[in-house]
Amino acid sequence: MGFSKAIITSGPTREWIDPVRYISNASSGKMGFHIAEEVARWIPETVYIRGLVQDEYKNPNTSRRISVETTSEMCAAVLSEIGEDTLLIMAAAPADFRPFRSEDSKIKKEEGSETLVLEFVKNPDILKTVSSKIAGEKIQGCCLVGFAAETNSLEEFALGKLKSKNLDFIVGNYVGKNEKGFGEADTSVVLYSSSGKVSEFGPLSKQEIASKIVDFLKKSGGGRNSG
Ligand code: CTP
Repeated sequence: MGFSKAIITSGPTREWIDPVRYISNASSGKMGFHIAEEVARWIPETVYIRGLVQDEYKNPNTSRRISVETTSEMCAAVLSEIGEDTLLIMAAAPADFRPFRSEDSKIKKEEGSETLVLEFVKNPDILKTVSSKIAGEKIQGCCLVGFAAETNSLEEFALGKLKSKNLDFIVGNYVGKNEKGFGEADTSVVLYSSSGKVSEFGPLSKQEIASKIVDFLKKSGGGRNSG
């Protein structure tokens, strides 16, 4: 069987604290961009849903591109695109929390106070939301792929996420404890299905890693929990 559509998410989301400040993360969008370009060569209808990626990763050669800001917006965009026979690759780094209150005016420094306490609420987990929709509405032929960037216990955390988010595959990679951000450097990844480790490659550039991940997915035949 083949996929009629692919959705690739990429980059960080942004959650506003007040009109001039936000919380986000250091994802560049590089991995998602290269995966989107590779997938578009295989699946003509490929939708790239991007958060605030770096300029050079904004416009992969895909049939459509959707720009979002917050995790809730990304979640809504993915939910509206998901359908039968869809491959979803969540390479984005959505912010897990948003400020409990987004202030209408700029937060001012308080005289005599050396700290600022902000309260955050959990954002939706996009993959979990999509998994539930697929199960609830019996949407056939989907394949959900997640990423797990970990500083330690890669296999344990990656397999935990694969299970809790009900994924077909998860791409695990170690991020150095001493590196800040997600980095431009070469990387190594391990692919897991529910039966454990299924492949690994690297160290290679993110572009080469993207091509190998997509080759693996092509050969795997995809399909819900077929791993
Ligand atoms: N993800 C998602 N929705 C979120 C956060 C993450 O769908 N709100 C996706 C990411 O795109 C990635 C996978 O879930 O494919 C794992 O993301 P990660 O941030 O590693 O996992 P979390 O579930 O947020 O766990 P933690 O931050 O506690 O490690």
